[in-house]
Amino acid sequence: MDRIRIVGGRPLNGTIPISGAKNATLPLMIASLLTEETLVLDNVPRLADVGQLQRILGNHGVDVMVSGKRPGERELDGQTLKLSAARIVDTTAPYELVSKMRASFWVIGPLVARTGEARVSMPGGCAIGTRPVDLLIMALERLGAQIDIDAGYVIARARKGLKGGEIAFPKVTVGGTHTALMAAALADGTSVIDNAAREPEVVDLADCLNKMGAKISGAGTPRIVVDGVPRLSGARHSVLPDRIETGTYAMAVAMAGGDVLLEGARPELLQAALDLIGGAGLNVSATNAGIRVSRNGAGLAPVEVATAPFPGFPTDLQAQLMALMCCARGTSRITETIFENRFMHVQELARLGARIHLDGETATIEGVERLRGAPVMATDLRASVSLVIAALAAEGETMVNRVYHLDRGFERLEDKLGRCGAEIARISG
Ligand code: EPZ
Repeated sequence: MDRIRIVGGRPLNGTIPISGAKNATLPLMIASLLTEETLVLDNVPRLADVGQLQRILGNHGVDVMVSGKRPGERELDGQTLKLSAARIVDTTAPYELVSKMRASFWVIGPLVARTGEARVSMPGGCAIGTRPVDLLIMALERLGAQIDIDAGYVIARARKGLKGGEIAFPKVTVGGTHTALMAAALADGTSVIDNAAREPEVVDLADCLNKMGAKISGAGTPRIVVDGVPRLSGARHSVLPDRIETGTYAMAVAMAGGDVLLEGARPELLQAALDLIGGAGLNVSATNAGIRVSRNGAGLAPVEVATAPFPGFPTDLQAQLMALMCCARGTSRITETIFENRFMHVQELARLGARIHLDGETATIEGVERLRGAPVMATDLRASVSLVIAALAAEGETMVNRVYHLDRGFERLEDKLGRCGAEIARISG
């Protein structure tokens, strides 16, 4: 298993190209199931999760062609995927595949909308919490699907097609909103989604569906209206930049010091996070080319923040912020309100010398003068990258084990940081 070795203490200077967003790419790929024509996606990041979803979609009959490995400078560009679901050959998503990636459960919406039937394994729990799918099922029921649960599978049927309906989510859910959007796009009649997720990835999916011929309005607000259409066509769509990757590298610069252009990043996708770290002491400025972040080595101020659905501070940046606050001058408080168990990084940060006290959903972080390198390991993607951030400022060597978590969501992480002066290398095997 690969590991990443980091020796801390080097500032970051240069340019980091921001990749297409993982969490937009996954639902966009799944949307290809809605049409027999070809969906072309540009700016797709090269990530393990994208490869895994290609295999899952292949099982349903989607042909995927990949291009975009261009030589020279363009090697940093995203790839282009051409997805063609001319014929759905299998409406079952088996446990062996769904258990590897939770987002693959979302195939249930397009499959039942297009074929009248879907049989999808329940995704089960994962490292950051129980993560149920009851709200996704509720959304499909509101659109007229008949739901049965049998032997760990959710079976959705709508022999005569889905019907427009009212879906009021009691809690904001990104996956629930994606599922409702994709299913309602092909339903007969108008659907209204209330308390919809406003995340930029939801807006990106709605934009792409509209290019495919869907009639969706209000994406990005809490009330989305979908006028169902009988069929959708192919389209071409470029994936929006990854706001979590952007925020992660901004925090890396805040931690290590230096001056970096986050190329292609868009500030409006993570304003809450930029305001917060800006207030803590990072210089942040928007330019035509992206977002420029710099820190001159002065101390960082502590923060108090709670994670929240967009436009609030994202749960997917909570671990990275905690790593940063380990070296702030004073005591920070970070409350996790989205997932009940998303603190796997706390005990690993402690191995580097962090002083963090957990009380329910709130972590209190007492800033320390210096972290010290150590072998560490994390059990989810964002927790793993928080250890990389801490290691960039830690004295001596940190070895981050189980790198496959990072490969799920960060494209060429060691390369991007290495080009800016970090002492970082992947050790194979
Ligand atoms: C998406 O997960 C993201 N994943 C997550 O990113 C992200 O942390 C999360 O949204 C919140 O922003 C992808 O986009 C692939 P939710 P999702 O449904 O859709 C509860 C990462 O690191 N809930 O918005 O699964 C749920 O338990 C990943 O890239 C129900 O109770 O999250 C949670 O408390 C991790 N019932 C809350 O809603 C349901 O049926 C929000 O979850 C569904 C969700």
